[in-house]
Amino acid sequence: MNRPKTKELFDRISKIVPGGIHSNIRYVEPFPYIFEKAEGSKLIDVDGDEHIDTVINYGALILGHGDRRVNDAAKNGIETGLTCGIESEFSIAAAEKFNEIVPCAEMIKFSLSGTEAVAHALTILRGYTKKDKIIKMEGAYHGWNDSVIINVHPDLEKAGPESSPNKVYDTQGITQNAKNNTIIIPYNNPELAEKAVKENKDEICALLVEPVVFNSGAIMPKEGYLKQLREITEDNGVPLLFDEVITGFRLAPGGAQEYYGVTPDIATFAKAMANGFPISAVAGKKEIMEVCTPGKGTMYGGVYNGSQVCTAATSATLDLIRDGEIQKKLNESTSYMTKRFQEIADDKNVKAQLIGLGGEFCVYFTDEEIVDYRSAARSDKSKSIQFHRNLLERNIYTYDGFLFHNGICAAHTKQDIDSILTAMESSL
Ligand SMILES: Cc1ncc(COP(=O)(O)O)c(C=O)c1O
Repeated sequence: MNRPKTKELFDRISKIVPGGIHSNIRYVEPFPYIFEKAEGSKLIDVDGDEHIDTVINYGALILGHGDRRVNDAAKNGIETGLTCGIESEFSIAAAEKFNEIVPCAEMIKFSLSGTEAVAHALTILRGYTKKDKIIKMEGAYHGWNDSVIINVHPDLEKAGPESSPNKVYDTQGITQNAKNNTIIIPYNNPELAEKAVKENKDEICALLVEPVVFNSGAIMPKEGYLKQLREITEDNGVPLLFDEVITGFRLAPGGAQEYYGVTPDIATFAKAMANGFPISAVAGKKEIMEVCTPGKGTMYGGVYNGSQVCTAATSATLDLIRDGEIQKKLNESTSYMTKRFQEIADDKNVKAQLIGLGGEFCVYFTDEEIVDYRSAARSDKSKSIQFHRNLLERNIYTYDGFLFHNGICAAHTKQDIDSILTAMESSL
């Protein structure tokens, strides 16, 4: 595709911004897209081409680009003249709505990004338990903090035995302390979770899980798995931490914890909570959250936390999604895509499957059942990358990485979804 203005701008940005992108995942070959405008389900790039967006800000858009109702609320926040660094009625109302909607949210504190929310949750849990270590699942992503940017997408050659993975670091710069403090286990294996919790219960502050591992595409929990994690952690006195940065407000108004009927001790949220405005939250049991009350010994800070604009956007978004209708529609649309995709793949004799929930989905090029990171990583990487490049050529905005979660939001019409499926058909 000829994109002269994009190329010119990319050359400009690359001179002063490493890689030409402000978040490394944004890079696509041969150079990333640069956008001018967005509305609903569509993105328009600087060369004037329209794309159906299936990245939806990595799951952050639940309503759609530029939703007027959320934007008007945010404008109202701006027009008060209040800047960050103080509380306002906006942050109070947003916290109250959170408390009403999310099962574990006896108490809530806002922050800015998913990475920050996870960092705050771990500090709170370390303050509460006086223990340092965490258990993390292979294939899950929880932001780029030292303790969690481990075994996100390890090379299978280096990953070691499935039952006791080698530690593989997704970046340089992780401190030795963090390396020592993170224990890696596979997802969807309750026996190994129980073993790790029992062996380490005197040293761990939490068992951390993405309830659905969207960061390795879309790996669903096996029937009863999250309940088993709840029982194992409860029996051993270890807090259960759900990272609901993607699942939150998307699977059900109360997130994965409502959808699967399993209440963690504490959870992190971001993305859909404000339809893409930069805000996140830590929410959990009063007893745990209270440790970050001033004077109780655990730090919680941030000038921009609970800003007027972002909490106004949060309140408006939560009002629009709390009756569950949008989540119902997204779940139905994802089921429709799964079914239609399978017909297309079978017709074309291609070994591929589309798995999804709540509008988030991933196409895996394999007929092996996807239950954990290793089964996902065994799917065909080169076919996956080529497929996403083909979609990009057909004006479906995606990302050409492997094990990437694509998404749709409330603004995607049936026609958009069928256009995505048609493009998938010719991209297989
Ligand atoms: C489950 C999960 N946790 C945490 C993060 C980090 O969030 P952020 O990129 O806002 O720092 C992400 C981001 O993709 C995520 O998917």
